[in-house]
Parts: sequence; structure tokens; C-alpha cells
Amino acid sequence: MEMARNSLFLLGLVVSLLIGLGSADWNILNHRKKPLSGSSLKNYCESWRINVEVNNIRGFEVVPEECIEYIGKYMTSSQYKADCQRAVEECQLYLSSCCTLKGDGKDAWIFDVDDTLISTVPYFKKHGFGGDKLNITSLEAWMKKCKAPALDHTLRLFHEIREKGFKIFLISIRRESLRDATVDNLIKEGYHGWSRLVLRDLQDENKHVQNYKAEARKRLVSEGYRIWGIIGDQWSSFDGSPSAKRTFKLPNSLYYIA
Ligand SMILES: *[C@@H]1O[C@H](CO)[C@@H](O)[C@H](O)[C@H]1NC(C)=O
Repeated sequence: MEMARNSLFLLGLVVSLLIGLGSADWNILNHRKKPLSGSSLKNYCESWRINVEVNNIRGFEVVPEECIEYIGKYMTSSQYKADCQRAVEECQLYLSSCCTLKGDGKDAWIFDVDDTLISTVPYFKKHGFGGDKLNITSLEAWMKKCKAPALDHTLRLFHEIREKGFKIFLISIRRESLRDATVDNLIKEGYHGWSRLVLRDLQDENKHVQNYKAEARKRLVSEGYRIWGIIGDQWSSFDGSPSAKRTFKLPNSLYYIA
């Protein structure tokens, strides 16, 4: 009797498995292999993008293949511009009440260069929108052409900050060999009046970017500067010590610099 019940149970299990195999949703693995499309792909890629922005997704080398088109669209969209504008507006709000400047020339503000002051989007537009592994040689060749356009909202912010009496420091992971091209590009796009452009020399090449940038801030602090704010497009521009009173993140889901 007991055996018969067990056999019946087994038979039932086999039958339901067979029925399950026949229905589309039973096998979760099959289900996930189905390429995402339409709104589910859009949701997937938007949540990938948001999780990059909030620094949950770290150290990605390339944009996931299925999201290249989505990220390309976003980075060239009015939404990307609106997101940058909003970050700049929050920064302006902070600036309206944040800081009592001493007027001793030691109040400092830090900017990133790429995708903060000037945009590398035109380069990535021609190189797979973050879907190809970054080719430094070709990126640097492009940078040497000085054709990176300004991010309009940051340009206005830059001059507002300068006119308030902050000393502006640009800390970039660009190499020293790109100094002339970088200065030319910045000036051509309307930037002027910064106090120092910090670039990477040979001994910085093997450092984590976060440490390289933190060391640059450390030098500023030891020179007596008070760092009121940083605006940048990478988390590695903010992390580590000393930090700033406030940091403002601009969107960038094309590449991740650790
Ligand atoms: C990187 O770019 C350079 C210059 O465009 C090219 O010669 C080289 O083959 C590229 N390297 C890779 C790995 O694609």
C-alpha cells in the first residue's frame, strides 16, 4: 500500500514535470535566455545605468552589449543634459549658502576635466558607446585634437565659482603629455582662470585613480586650502581622504574609472 502511494506520487511528479516542460514559463533558465526586448530591455538597461550612477555597479570594463544602444541614446539625449543641469543647479543651491569665504585665497573648488568640463561623448559615439574595451591610444589621439566640446552647464558653473572668489583646481587622470592639448581645448571651449591643472605623471601611472586624486587633495590641504566642493563624473574623484564638504556627481555610464 505504502509502495503504491509512493509510485503514484512519483508518477504524478513525472507527469507534472512533463507538463511543466511543455509550458513556456516553467524553465526559469530558458526564460532568462530569451533576449530581452521592448520595455523589459529598457527597464533592464535603465536599472543598469542607475546602479552605475549610485555606485552599486563598480569597475565595469564595457557597457553590457544589450545596453549599448540604450546608453548611447541616453548619453546623447536631452535627458542626459537635464540630469547634468540638475546636478549643476544643486551645486548652485549649495553655493548660495555654503561658504563664508575668508578672502585669503585659500578657498578651493575642484573639477574633473573629462565629462565634467569637456565631453568625450563625441569620441565614444564613434567607438561603440562604451561597448568596446577602452583603447587609451586612440582616446589620447582624439584628445590631442582638442575637439572635446564644453558641457554648457558646467561652463557657466565654473565661471560662477571663479567669480565668487574660489581658487579652481582641475584634477584629471589625463597624462602630462596631454597638458598642452588639454589647456588648448579648455581655453577654446571658454574655460580660463583656474589656478592649477593636476595631471598624471609617470609615477602616478600605477596608482589607483582614487589614491592619486586623494593625494592631490592632500597636497592642497597641506598648502592651506579649504576644499568646499568637488564636481566630477566618477566616484573615484570623491572617495578617499581628505574629501570635500560636498561632492556633486555628474552622470556617466560610458566608462568606469577605479
Ligand atoms: C587602439 O587604437 C590604435 C590607434 O587607433 C590602434 O592602432 C590599435 O590597433 C588599437 N588597439 C586595439 C587593441 O584595438
